[in-house]
Amino acid sequence: MRIVASILLIASTLAPVHLLAQGRGRAAGASPASQRPPQTATPQTYPADQLATGQTLFVARCGSCHGRDAAGGEGDTDLTRSSLVAEDIRGDKLGPVVRSGRPDKGMPPITVSDEELAAIVAFVHERHTTAETLLGGRRSVDVADLQTGNAGAGRQYFEAACTRCHSATGDLSGISKRLQGLALLQRMLYPGSGGGGAVKAPAVTVTAPNGQIVSGTLAYRDEFTIALTDSAGSYRSWPTRRVTFKVDDPLSAHVEQLGKYTDDDMHDVFAYLQTLK
Ligand code: HEC
Ligand code: HEC
Repeated sequence: MRIVASILLIASTLAPVHLLAQGRGRAAGASPASQRPPQTATPQTYPADQLATGQTLFVARCGSCHGRDAAGGEGDTDLTRSSLVAEDIRGDKLGPVVRSGRPDKGMPPITVSDEELAAIVAFVHERHTTAETLLGGRRSVDVADLQTGNAGAGRQYFEAACTRCHSATGDLSGISKRLQGLALLQRMLYPGSGGGGAVKAPAVTVTAPNGQIVSGTLAYRDEFTIALTDSAGSYRSWPTRRVTFKVDDPLSAHVEQLGKYTDDDMHDVFAYLQTLK
């Protein structure tokens, strides 16, 4: 496992600390970020296509509360640190929580088919296992350890890999004033989860049976149904077999990027972002 990956993950799991610092979390000392995720009791593997389906379903149906990567949210809602997930075997514990919810605690019951549940379970286990593997024995990361980058090299990397969507003088201008240290790293790596960032719904374009093209933000998606919220705020849905559609998730570039950064690249880009005052 490359070192960069462990730093990425630690940054991700530290999101709740950032929230605590803003006084929105629980009492100090109770941060789940200070503990390692509980070890999975029964290691399980799932096929790649099931994981991909699970990811889509998770983002659409669980992501707003648990983060798109299951590590978002506060306290018990970070599923990569859940001991219930650690003890689960192929959905035996997850299934009842999903279907009954915990209405008193803020989780509604969620209707899923057996197939959908199996895919969601696969994704949650994959995220949980990645968290425990990557986090290793480390409990925290010192921001000073990350200050080894070269801002000039980071700028070059940024211009090659990021300017398609970002601009140093536009949207990211002054970012180092808004965000510092781990909070900045967290946003750079996982803009879609925790850390105060809103979860943005992917854009979707549907070609309806009569040929009409309708665009909006993804409101719901499963095997049978695709639904969006159009610009007027109306919810519209179609059976998937009757329409063609294209989902464009702007944050998928960041997910792909995680696999591309080397240690040095990541430190360089981080150094460069810190110069954007
Ligand atoms: C509206 C917000 C919301 C949605 C949507 C939601 N959850 Fe939750 N979930 C919560 C909250 C809040 C808790 C914490 C309940 C508690 O403290 O006991 C929770 C708890 C859980 C737990 C128990 C964790 C533990 O360690 O006890 C699991 C597992 C879980 N959710 C899975 C899911 C899955 C899978 C989905 C999507 C199918 C989902 N949730 C959708 C809010 C939500
Ligand atoms: C295909 C488009 C795309 C590419 C390529 C991309 N990003 Fe992003 N980035 C996004 C989107 C979308 C967001 C979320 C914006 C939001 O939530 O306001 C984002 C958010 C961010 C944020 C947080 C911004 C804020 O205001 O909090 C940072 C930092 C960032 N990206 C850095 C990078 C870096 C560094 C690269 C290149 C290595 C990169 N991004 C490549 C689309 C992209």
